[in-house]
Amino acid sequence: MKRVELPGRWIAWPRYLSNLAIPIISFTIECTLSPMEFSFMWTPSHAMPSGISPLLTVHGLTVKYDGGGQSVTALHAVNFELAPGEIIGILGESGSGKSTLALSILGLLPAKTSVAGSIQFQNQDLLRVDESSWQTIRGARISMIFQEPGLALNPVMRVGDQIAEVIRAHQPGGRKIQKQGAEAILREIRLSDTDRIYKAYPHQLSGGQLHRVAIAQAVCCRPQLLIADEPTRSLDVTVQAEILDVLHEVNRMFGSALIFITHNPALLAGFADRVIVMYAGRMIEDGPVNQVFRRPLHPYTKGLLQLAPRYPGQDGLIRQGRLPVIPGRLTDADRLTAGCVFEPRCSARTAVCRSEFPHEVTPEQGRRVSCFNHGN
Ligand SMILES: Nc1ncnc2c1ncn2[C@@H]1O[C@H](COP(=O)(O)OP(=O)(O)OP(=O)(O)O)[C@@H](O)[C@H]1O
Ligand code: SF4
Ligand SMILES: [Mg+2]
Repeated sequence: MKRVELPGRWIAWPRYLSNLAIPIISFTIECTLSPMEFSFMWTPSHAMPSGISPLLTVHGLTVKYDGGGQSVTALHAVNFELAPGEIIGILGESGSGKSTLALSILGLLPAKTSVAGSIQFQNQDLLRVDESSWQTIRGARISMIFQEPGLALNPVMRVGDQIAEVIRAHQPGGRKIQKQGAEAILREIRLSDTDRIYKAYPHQLSGGQLHRVAIAQAVCCRPQLLIADEPTRSLDVTVQAEILDVLHEVNRMFGSALIFITHNPALLAGFADRVIVMYAGRMIEDGPVNQVFRRPLHPYTKGLLQLAPRYPGQDGLIRQGRLPVIPGRLTDADRLTAGCVFEPRCSARTAVCRSEFPHEVTPEQGRRVSCFNHGN
């Protein structure tokens, strides 16, 4: 894959275009890995509402970092679909491949990376588009909020001008219109004192305000897909709750689908429609958040939820607490096993788990799990 620089530009796209009927695209698979490394199993991730085509279809996505003398397969045959306007939480501990998934969708993987599978975004396979096409996709139809959004802002430029610059790069119209667009988006995401914020430099804003400005910049051209990679990790709980509210508002107002990456299941309850749980680069459980949280099927998900702080409380507020940590840790040897990659840490393991790979099953409508003893 070609290395590309992170974008600071966004392009307009008609709002709610994602709701139009889009023909189903057949999958094409370009495999740069050996057949052994790439599973062709494909199960639709969940029941897409009838008459609605997926906005995003990730099929058999396998990513292997080849640099540094040692290769790491960060994603193994990842499959899922995202509906227009849907909010998916990607949940998993450090190193499970969450950011690799985000970077794959944005075409931002490093140069020495082997990629297989397909990422169908409406009528385009994102693994096949050329750099000029990326200029019309990245930051415009798909945009991203990074873990430290404030760091993405230019410290010597007024934040309002930075948003206007993004609009200018992608939408026709004079400077006055672009400035009005920037002011409007600041108001839409409910930043109070818009005039002052517009004229402020990043160092003059609080952490929460910087997050909101970064969200404004990411959504000012109404992307159909927004990816947020741990955007609230450095914030205190009250500001976390505010940022989740803003993202919900963006989802509601603009119809943007959202992929929200987190270590913390507590953030997904009451926020995401669906959760995909990742472990060692694999999707091990997928289903509606309320069902998965009420009755997790995979032992890893169960462990995460048992250890997680309860959320939300009776008062609807986030409880911070400690992030869940399941005893043991994933080693490189575990990644290479022929059996279940979670076996060394699993309290529900049986003999078969060490020798055979637990292929994904669909035990009930809308849910997927990879475990021989799921639900036990
Ligand atoms: N550029 C890279 N070169 C080599 N290996 C990498 C690279 N980026 C990530 N990895 C490896 O790929 C695996 C998945 O990493 P990734 O950053 O996607 O995980 P993550 O779930 O986002 O973790 P975290 O929660 O810590 O951000 C890890 O083993 C990581 O060490
Ligand atoms: S397949 Fe076996 S080891 Fe893996 S999660 Fe299920 S019970 Fe545990
Ligand atoms: Mg990450």
